[in-house]
Amino acid sequence: MSDFTHGFWPIYISVITLVSIIGTWVFLKSQTTRKLAPGEKPELIEHTWDGDLQDLNNPLPRWWLGLFYGTLVFALVYLVLWPGLGNYAGVLKWTQLGEYEEEVQKAEAKFQPVYAGFMQQDVATVAADADARAIGKNLFLTYCSQCHGSDAAGARGFPNLTDGDWLYGGDPDTIKATLTDGRAGVMPALGDALGADGTKAVAHYVLSLSGRQHDAALATAGKPKFEENCAACHMPDGTGMQAMGAPNLTDKVWLYGGSEAAIIESIAKGRNGVMPAVAQTLGTTSNKEAKLHLLTAYVYGLSQKR
Ligand code: HEC
Ligand code: HEC
Repeated sequence: MSDFTHGFWPIYISVITLVSIIGTWVFLKSQTTRKLAPGEKPELIEHTWDGDLQDLNNPLPRWWLGLFYGTLVFALVYLVLWPGLGNYAGVLKWTQLGEYEEEVQKAEAKFQPVYAGFMQQDVATVAADADARAIGKNLFLTYCSQCHGSDAAGARGFPNLTDGDWLYGGDPDTIKATLTDGRAGVMPALGDALGADGTKAVAHYVLSLSGRQHDAALATAGKPKFEENCAACHMPDGTGMQAMGAPNLTDKVWLYGGSEAAIIESIAKGRNGVMPAVAQTLGTTSNKEAKLHLLTAYVYGLSQKR
């Protein structure tokens, strides 16, 4: 297979390759046909360099020529067997993709029995298995660590998966649903609706919910605004709603930060965290389900006390 955009290029490349090989051959030949007649002495070529460095017209040594011809034969054999000449696929029909698929198949065959065993067990049992955790960790490093961190502790905007605090829920079925369908957190931008003062007041009420330092008068003014604008998702007591992914605002865990400035930004501009539907990307193979199962168990196990 090749990606040439025009039929001219494969021919152009093939011609240059073959002409170079033939040209090298002809050149070598032209330099080696002359043999010394018996008794004939090599002639001295006129010039002398570096004071005393002289040049004789001896034929080239045979072993050296042999190596040179060897490389030419190697090149031709290579071009017959493997792709190299324009679009020609080579007698062996080798492709990078073919080699990759062969390796994947070998790996699949090797892991199939291991995976099948884990598929028989429920998530909690798999989570308690050290081998399954080792596989799960590898999968996590491959598919999840770029966002959640290699230790799964997350970062700003990317939830910590080890703390037992969940936006959507930490039971096996919910985790599996998160991985299968993805999640999109929708926190609307309410800055315009509340105005700058209103936003600040609500923010101080939010600060008060988790016992952070706040202005009591502002918080009191913010409370009714919270009930009116926020309680539908974050609940009247601010403890959040997992069905919406609306975070608990009364605890010490913050997705975007718990400072006054961060909270004002969350309220004024809104937040839209997106968790991709990763299960679709776990390969196109029969092991997809098993990988999902092992990842679910790994994430489930992260926040379980052992
Ligand atoms: C492109 C970045 C990205 C990748 C890759 C990613 N995630 Fe996420 N994940 C997020 C974001 C962002 C959220 C929070 C979504 C929100 O704010 O509503 C999230 C949420 C989650 C949640 C829900 C947490 C909770 O508190 O309910 C789980 C579980 C999760 N991810 C697991 C995984 C696993 C396992 C993988 C790998 C298979 C993965 N994620 C890959 C970005 C990512
Ligand atoms: C439509 C539902 C909805 C409404 C209404 C809503 N929120 Fe949110 N809020 C969310 C969701 C969902 C998130 C998480 C966003 C994400 O995952 O990216 C969030 C995130 C936040 C955060 C960030 C929390 C953190 O851990 O960093 C704060 C603060 C917040 N909301 C405060 C408020 C306040 C105050 C109001 C009312 C003025 C409000 N929200 C109204 C759904 C809502």
